[in-house]
Amino acid sequence: MKTNVEALFLGIETSCDDTATAIVRGGRDVLASVSTNQDAFHEKYGGIVPEIASRQHVALLSAAVDDALERAHVALDDVDGIAVTRGPGLIGSLVVGVAAAKALAYAARKPLYAVNHLHGHFFAAFLDHPDPLPYPFLALLVSGGHSQLVEVASAVDMRVIGRTRDDAAGEAYDKTARLLGLPYPGGPQLDALARKGNAKAFAFPRHRADPGTLDLSFSGLKTSVRYFLESDAGQGAAIEDVAASFQAAVVDVLVARVDSAFDRGAYRALVLSGGVAANSGLQAAVRAWSARRGVPAFIPPPRYCTDNAAMIAAAAYHQRGVTRCEPLTLTADPNLPF
Ligand code: KG4
Ligand code: ZN
Repeated sequence: MKTNVEALFLGIETSCDDTATAIVRGGRDVLASVSTNQDAFHEKYGGIVPEIASRQHVALLSAAVDDALERAHVALDDVDGIAVTRGPGLIGSLVVGVAAAKALAYAARKPLYAVNHLHGHFFAAFLDHPDPLPYPFLALLVSGGHSQLVEVASAVDMRVIGRTRDDAAGEAYDKTARLLGLPYPGGPQLDALARKGNAKAFAFPRHRADPGTLDLSFSGLKTSVRYFLESDAGQGAAIEDVAASFQAAVVDVLVARVDSAFDRGAYRALVLSGGVAANSGLQAAVRAWSARRGVPAFIPPPRYCTDNAAMIAAAAYHQRGVTRCEPLTLTADPNLPF
């Protein structure tokens, strides 16, 4: 293998509905990141249809691999390892990526690395970024399926210290967006509306699951937005103001939890990750918190917040040497534990 800084990884990510591939050098420099968005195929169903996602991965993945190699101006032969998301995710989607990665590893005689999708998200903030990874850091992972506070002591040593008791933050966004009649996927649409509204228009509850823990809860917030929309006041409310007030409640709860975590543990930085990390309100609030508290915050650019293969390639790069490379009997695991 080449020196650490030069090692080239091909990343493949198909855990949900994005068919994504990437070429990353040294766990940092993104030479190519390709993501074929399937939204158009799922939109009319108001959510992801697993069977459609799986079939689209089959149709798109091979071209997405070629595209990444071409854009990065490298041949498969130049690659030092192949990294693939093993889980968690939709089984029908994961198996497509894992089968493709095994076939490529076999054909090109390259080592195969399996990556936990959730671990992958933590490395997104360091893509195309000059700073070294500031271990130990606290990661706030907020995605469609997960909302967690994670202590990250090294690339392989991670501990969940707070989690949602019910809905994930992205799920709360998507469900609330639906209540507001916004098309799928709701999170980014709600964010765009919130930017035009008054965040102080309505006081939605800031639920602290249990003050003794760092856990989160969002289902009460979603329900109170629903009751509000059904009320007389709600019927006449401007949708932008409802969106902005909902967003303010989510962001307040998340930042308060992060702040409590920093009261309890010594971390060198906060790392934002997951699809909801792309949220404009959350990014602004985290920047303000970081300046106030004097703690560096690493926030990925929006293209690396949502699912992508560059973060999977980067995770494999940082974890290799500690984790073994996988045999070609590797299988996808939709319930892969954290
Ligand atoms: O990490 P991700 O791409 O997929 C999962 O692994 O879940 O996260 C997707 C989630 C969706 O719920 C989506 O609505 C939400 O992230 N999301 C946002 C924004 N962009 C994506 N939520 C709020 N504001 C955004 N700008
Ligand atoms: Zn994700």
